[in-house]
Amino acid sequence: MIILSHFQAAELLQARSAGQATTSISLDLGLTTTEATLTPDRLILSEAIVTWNDVEEIARHDTACFVVEDNRAKQIRGFSELTGRVYGLMPTESAPTMLISGLPMHRIKNTNPHQDTLAKIKAIAPINGRVLDTCTGLGYTAIEAAKTAEQVITIELDPTAQEIARFNPWSRSLFDNPKIIQHIGDAFDEIQNFADGLFSCIIHDPPMLSLAGDLYSGEFYAECRRVLRRSGKLFHYIGDPDSRSGARTTKGVMRRLQEAGFTRVVPKPQAFGLVAFK
Ligand SMILES: C[S@@+](CC[C@H](N)C(=O)[O-])C[C@H]1O[C@@H](n2cnc3c(N)ncnc32)[C@H](O)[C@@H]1O
Repeated sequence: MIILSHFQAAELLQARSAGQATTSISLDLGLTTTEATLTPDRLILSEAIVTWNDVEEIARHDTACFVVEDNRAKQIRGFSELTGRVYGLMPTESAPTMLISGLPMHRIKNTNPHQDTLAKIKAIAPINGRVLDTCTGLGYTAIEAAKTAEQVITIELDPTAQEIARFNPWSRSLFDNPKIIQHIGDAFDEIQNFADGLFSCIIHDPPMLSLAGDLYSGEFYAECRRVLRRSGKLFHYIGDPDSRSGARTTKGVMRRLQEAGFTRVVPKPQAFGLVAFK
């Protein structure tokens, strides 16, 4: 699969202006590079041909990625019948983020989705045993956790989000790594099917409160505590603790976690979240 963004399109247009006959370019959003041949009317990539018109079109979109299919560049986006929201893949200089109704699902200001993921994982490290990742998204937390965990069970509400992840080169091991088990469903309901004490860690990375209120409820936190083993831990992403809404949400989350029986709740401001211990 060839995936391109405005970053590669800009490099290709620059190579054309410089009169180059070949150039090295990434067809997987920066993970690897390959050789492309430039002709006056088109671009010859490993297994496809792209017109300069399409390259110019890609260059005009800085919040979308494109897949090349049948020698045409097509914007990666999907409309969810389930949520009535539009999903897309937004490139960054590192891993892309997923846009849901235009809102990025990872931090992109003064950081990038890859660094954001590493910060979340660092906050709850060491990760071992069986892990519950409540909100799959592009699978970055699941993929990173699976590097040290025995198994990761990850839940995604929306099949459209999973379709978007399939196009993302940075999400590949979500589909290839046998340690990762994907469930489609609502984490609020799915968690009720897991046995007591099944998990050693939970990574809870929900959309913002206004998009997923149930996932911030005392009832959900009590279920998280139930499925954690003794001295198990939960990382909860919340948002910028220095913003007014982030500070307010953090306060409410801490109170409800304590009411749900978590004994120790430790703020992790670097990761825009906190860790709660059973
Ligand atoms: C912030 S993103 C998760 C990012 C993910 N941790 C990653 O590393 O890419 C939130 C995801 O949760 C999904 N979601 C929203 N409500 C949910 C629910 N009730 N249960 C499970 N997933 C949900 C959204 O569709 C979105 O894909």
